Amino acid sequence: MLLEKVISVLALSAALLDGSLDTAMPDKNIDSRIFLINRQHSISRRYVPPDLRRVIAHGISQEMRQDAATALEQMFEDAKEAGLPLSTVSGYRSYSKQSTIYSRKVNSIGVKAADRVSARPGTSEHQLGLAMDVAKKGSSSLTTAFAKTEQGKWVYENAHKYGFIVRYPEGYEDVTGYSYEPWHIRYVGVEYATAIYQSGLPMELYMSGHRLEIFDYLIHQATNEVHP
Ligand code: DAL
Ligand code: ZN
Repeated sequence: MLLEKVISVLALSAALLDGSLDTAMPDKNIDSRIFLINRQHSISRRYVPPDLRRVIAHGISQEMRQDAATALEQMFEDAKEAGLPLSTVSGYRSYSKQSTIYSRKVNSIGVKAADRVSARPGTSEHQLGLAMDVAKKGSSSLTTAFAKTEQGKWVYENAHKYGFIVRYPEGYEDVTGYSYEPWHIRYVGVEYATAIYQSGLPMELYMSGHRLEIFDYLIHQATNEVHP
């Protein structure tokens, strides 16, 4: 029995070391709402989210995944109630749409500058169907000036209550890989959005801390089994 437990600790440690436990982590499951996508973690050109639907909200017609769409609709209703109406600007984008957007950016400002503001195809959260670019009602402009508007402040302070995070925060460009985007919100569910908002960290840093906690828990479980 003791031998079995020692073997399970060794197996767990080996799995941690070679990264094969990654597949069990929610941020590694592409259909999970906390799947991490960025310049280092890309997805296939063929990936299309499973439950896309049209978002019923003011603005340019857009699609998102079911839960994200429902949350966004509620958020837009409440923002309107608060006298701060919002518009959708850009939601789900296919690999080829992202490719067109990125190439257009490269042609206008060059590769280096484009890489700070536009994701290369296969690395955009928009392909996950969990992101939406938002603006003040009647506007489709996406600039950092949005952060200073009443709507921008409301989004920053309230998005997490609906399960969204402002994904590319100011001051973390070197971690996220992108310039500050106060208009780009990403759905992760209320629990994670609240924790990430309260941590003040970008998703990359929050998730690495969270993964360490999970590993720590697993190791603790396994070692407790060895020494009950
Ligand atoms: N602007 C963000 C980084 C995107 O293109 O997905
Ligand atoms: Zn965006």
